[in-house]
Amino acid sequence: MVLRLAILISGNGSNMLNIVESCIKKKINAEVGIVISNNPNSSGLRKLQEFDVNSKILRLDNFKNKGIYEQEISNLLVKENTDLVCLAGYMKILGPSFLKKWNKKIINIHPSLLPAFKGINAQQQALKYNVKYSGCTVHFVNEEIDGGDIIDQSIVRVDKNETVKSLKKKILIEEHKLYIKVLKSIIKKGVLNE
Ligand code: GRF
Repeated sequence: MVLRLAILISGNGSNMLNIVESCIKKKINAEVGIVISNNPNSSGLRKLQEFDVNSKILRLDNFKNKGIYEQEISNLLVKENTDLVCLAGYMKILGPSFLKKWNKKIINIHPSLLPAFKGINAQQQALKYNVKYSGCTVHFVNEEIDGGDIIDQSIVRVDKNETVKSLKKKILIEEHKLYIKVLKSIIKKGVLNE
């Protein structure tokens, strides 16, 4: 089966671009039906222009409320025959109706070894705690922020003179590999939600 992906982003989009490239180069048996950004200034969307991939900007403040905004996202995902929604630096919390409709069909990548350091600035939180290892996690998305079932994780060593910047960079390299590894394993299983 060719897995139909939709990717939601807000910013830099390096994970999104890596997934897009992996699909185009046929490293994974998937195709990106649509990339949606809530942020018109997302640099990821700009970089995406060099690829022939459908994208859309949807700004929350152009909608009456979040429910209607997310309904519009949902409609686009249905239109694109989406099998799996990949969050990749999407900085909005998804509401209950959307989560219900796409239950167990939304995955996210987080820059820490969950359940440690949920929420924003995970790398900063990790350094503050003086951990010796950190990493990234791909997990299912549910109503608890960064609290859904863990699918896979990758570890990095935190060096003595590590800074937030260097740790972010180090983790991001692992994120790119991990997201693809997880997608490959989902595709190999051939079915979602089992
Ligand atoms: C990543 O660190 C990811 O773990 C977090 O947001 C960041 C997105 O980076 N959820 P990018 O936009 O994919 O470069």
